Amino acid sequence: MTETYDIVLATPFPNYNFFAHKLRELCGQNNLTFFLCNDSWVNEFLKKLEARQIAARVVLDLTANQTLDDDPYVVLAREVKRQGGYVIDDPDLTREAAHKGILHRRLVENGIPVPETVVVPRSEIEGFKLDDETKARIGLPYVVKPSWGDSGVGVEVNAMSEDALLWSASQAPNADSFLIQQKLEPRELGDHVGWFRLFHICREVIPCWWNPYNHEYQMVTPGEIKQYHLGPLRRIMRGLARISQMKKFTSEICLHRDGKFYAVDYVNADPDMNPRSFYANGVPDEIVRHIVWLLFYEAMHIVKRGHGYFDDELRESEADRNWLVRRQREQAAMEIR
Ligand SMILES: Nc1ncnc2c1ncn2[C@@H]1O[C@H](COP(=O)(O)OP(=O)(O)O)[C@@H](O)[C@H]1O
Ligand SMILES: [Mg+2]
Repeated sequence: MTETYDIVLATPFPNYNFFAHKLRELCGQNNLTFFLCNDSWVNEFLKKLEARQIAARVVLDLTANQTLDDDPYVVLAREVKRQGGYVIDDPDLTREAAHKGILHRRLVENGIPVPETVVVPRSEIEGFKLDDETKARIGLPYVVKPSWGDSGVGVEVNAMSEDALLWSASQAPNADSFLIQQKLEPRELGDHVGWFRLFHICREVIPCWWNPYNHEYQMVTPGEIKQYHLGPLRRIMRGLARISQMKKFTSEICLHRDGKFYAVDYVNADPDMNPRSFYANGVPDEIVRHIVWLLFYEAMHIVKRGHGYFDDELRESEADRNWLVRRQREQAAMEIR
């Protein structure tokens, strides 16, 4: 018989244990089955899934390698989708959204404020030169980064010439294009730097101050939103979600010294889930807990659609009530044998 897991958490990061345990706890409290699929299990899980020994209703995919076709978590996400399960987020949408070059063009078309940028295909980086007009628009130094990247790999924030493209290309062998981008300078706001990392989780936006130098998070309070006129943050995040169609992601937004907000890092599909109480530059615990709840709630609604009515579950638990009697009968039968 196929064993079906209601919620599967797919993540290679052991430092997401706090998140995983909270999720498991919610599943237990709400009578949903749960599986944590990490590096130790992903290949075996996939094999059993393909053999239809197990199935998954909802996969919460906290990985970020959707551009690599043979990444086991990507293969897993695709297989679950093929079998009619629901993956948050859809691996095919994630693949598009995580591509800084593709998304950049769509953001510009849709009026989302982004820094001045030129996208250079890998095939053109050798000997590439900006024309004078573009050079003036972008300024110097500028930022060079790969279209597919993560954790700042291959990002040069003080590039003085097009040579940085070659360096970036050597650091990011899987990237098919590179961005030359205006360097933003965050304004100071009281004790804070005007740089934000925001979570978008299933229609809810959670803003944090995110220090771009030491990567420390701090919650943005409702008072600060008013005091510093931070309303545009939420509008930009909603725009990013609408255009990318992603449910869970983080973005970086900068309040530049010209007084305007710009999206800098557009869609990170694997939001940090390290709690602050264990990691110096982790996410405030209350935010991690809230995100667990938002993702659980979304997944639960999807799972319940397939479960039928609440009353049906009650009937099932009536049968379970006789468990002890059944067990005693089974034991007695065994002793007789
Ligand atoms: N246009 C920019 N202006 C200033 N700093 C930038 C810009 N783009 C990136 N950075 C800096 O480089 C870091 C990494 O770049 P990012 O675009 O976030 O790529 P990644 O996806 O690797 O995180 C950012 O967190 C930020 O500190
Ligand atoms: Mg980033």
